Amino acid sequence: MPIVRDQWYVAAYGAEVTREFLARTICNEPIVFYRTEDGAPVALADRCVHRRFPLSQSRLDGDRVVCGYHGFTYEPSGACVYVPGQQRIPRTARVASYPVVEQDSFIWVFIGDPQLAEQRPIPRAPWLNPDSGYVTVAGMEPIKGRYSLLVDNLLDLSHETYLHGGYIGTPEVAETPIETSVDEQTGLVRVSRRMQDAECPPFYAKSTGLTDRISRWQDIEYHAPCLYLLHSRIAPVGSVPNPDGTDPEGFHTEITYAITPETDNSVLDFWMVSRDFAREDADVTEFLAKFNHTVVMQDVDALNILEGVIETEPEGFQELSINIDAGGLAARKVLKRLAEAAA
Ligand code: FES
Ligand SMILES: [Fe+2]
Repeated sequence: MPIVRDQWYVAAYGAEVTREFLARTICNEPIVFYRTEDGAPVALADRCVHRRFPLSQSRLDGDRVVCGYHGFTYEPSGACVYVPGQQRIPRTARVASYPVVEQDSFIWVFIGDPQLAEQRPIPRAPWLNPDSGYVTVAGMEPIKGRYSLLVDNLLDLSHETYLHGGYIGTPEVAETPIETSVDEQTGLVRVSRRMQDAECPPFYAKSTGLTDRISRWQDIEYHAPCLYLLHSRIAPVGSVPNPDGTDPEGFHTEITYAITPETDNSVLDFWMVSRDFAREDADVTEFLAKFNHTVVMQDVDALNILEGVIETEPEGFQELSINIDAGGLAARKVLKRLAEAAA
């Protein structure tokens, strides 16, 4: 699965981008991020045009980047405004500057033809904003595995029963069939699994206090290529939301992932868990942060192993797909279409 260009990707959490440089490779492109004195995020190619010294190893002079090797100096636009030893600045002295948008706690960067950035909508995750009424724990793990492995992983949650048993998996997750649909206009992939009478896994028992059997809904929306949303609802068995949408008996968790290819064989796994219950409870916050990190690491370990398997296997291995793979297969199709459109 090739990396899809001409798309917005999450490059960082907003809090990671400061007046210090942040170097990150996104879709095989080395990029340096920083903020201007006014706080606006900037993304520039992390290679000086002179002798390719990484600008992230350089210093800021106001809003300008002064290369740490021979002093080529760049504006946030990427234009070079100073070279040493001569007045004339070569016309080609400029580094690429990437479109960036700060939204929903993320720094989004556009990879591809910058002319196309404006016409591509950036998907939203409003619960990540501080005034949303949700409390969020978050992290990021780099994975030495191609990003399609993480897409497969997140689109098929039946693995919770096995890989995350005793954490977020119970037998019902693997046993309950899914419903999958694709919005042909937007490419949005939806996968939902509604368990009416399920065991409450520790992840939810310890955070909600529900220990009896529960109704558990998992409604996935995958905005290819980067943003994955899992709307999770937990409630006592038999409870459903009111016709007007209010849901006083339900516990709502918005689980967000940003899936950002780093290179052809590695991916950045941004994860967030936002809840609308026990918001003031610091113990619940700490529990969810630690517990979810453990769960993420179970996936990271599995995908690192899978990448190793793929890289060393003889050609021609044929995967076998079954019903649970409908979401993952739909996602692959959408990604393939987006890649072809960009090529
Ligand atoms: S490499 Fe940057 S000024 Fe020489
Ligand atoms: Fe997982």
